[in-house]
Amino acid sequence: MQRLPLVTAVSLGLFAGAAATQAMADTSPLEQQLKDLQSFQVIAHRGASGHAPESTMVAYELAHEWDVDYLELDAQITADGELVVFHDDSIDRTSDGEGEINDYTLEELKALDTGTWFNEENPDSADTAFEGAQMLTLDELFDHFGHDARYYIETKSPQLNPGLEEALVEKLEEHDMIESGRVLVQSFEQDSLLKVQELNDDVPLIQLVWYYPSEEDNSRLVEWTGVTPGPAEITDEDFQEVADYAVGIGTNYLYDGREVIDADFIQRAQENGLPVHVYTINETEEMERLMEMGVNGLFTNYPDRLLELVE
Ligand code: G3P
Ligand code: CA
Repeated sequence: MQRLPLVTAVSLGLFAGAAATQAMADTSPLEQQLKDLQSFQVIAHRGASGHAPESTMVAYELAHEWDVDYLELDAQITADGELVVFHDDSIDRTSDGEGEINDYTLEELKALDTGTWFNEENPDSADTAFEGAQMLTLDELFDHFGHDARYYIETKSPQLNPGLEEALVEKLEEHDMIESGRVLVQSFEQDSLLKVQELNDDVPLIQLVWYYPSEEDNSRLVEWTGVTPGPAEITDEDFQEVADYAVGIGTNYLYDGREVIDADFIQRAQENGLPVHVYTINETEEMERLMEMGVNGLFTNYPDRLLELVE
């Protein structure tokens, strides 16, 4: 092996260090976020929602304490135009109210208890501290964690939430979440993603897909909104069409216990420039299997279980 004189080795070392520092300085936070998508991402689905009421501050605090890569959330709009963090179209399941979320003002939604249901449904994880948890606004979440977290935001039910994309992009700009590399916007609706892109084409987008058996032919898988053909029929051109506007793809893994994607789907998406994130994976065995298959990240209600596998 050829050895370098000490002085040369030291100066080369200094040069390499300086070059690396310069390269890092030349990488913008948004570019860094996109680079990070090549590594495995732990995505806390509605916060650490296996341990605390979904979409509440306590669920996000827990996930943040565990140092996840992304806090996942669903954004919706209230009757008076405020952005809230909430998954279902209806408030029945996860609050003490009834009806459609978009029919209520923020003040009315704030009066609801979005924590007690969790204690009733999950006696083993119940905590009196969850009682009376209030619905969160996106502002509150951003004010609380600021740029110390990354957010994976779904435009939920865009047809039921008119004005959602405009309000969301305005909020992201107001909190400087885009250029600072703090946010991904995800949707099942391609139109919703394209609207976000039209409003601000720096926002990195994730196309969500949901594959399930066709009603006409159970052996054939189709995609919910038709944004891609089923996994058996998808071509490089189909992946490329998604890659034209999105930086990644988020997919289900199972339908009724049946695998809908495989290692080949993952590899082909990646070869077409689309990292693959899979939702919603809560069992360690499935996490391990998908990691072996080469996924780029998992949405989970139990980020603690996933972090044990990646650390
Ligand atoms: O956003 C990924 C995953 O959360 C999509 O399903 O119904 O939990 O929003 P859902
Ligand atoms: Ca979601």
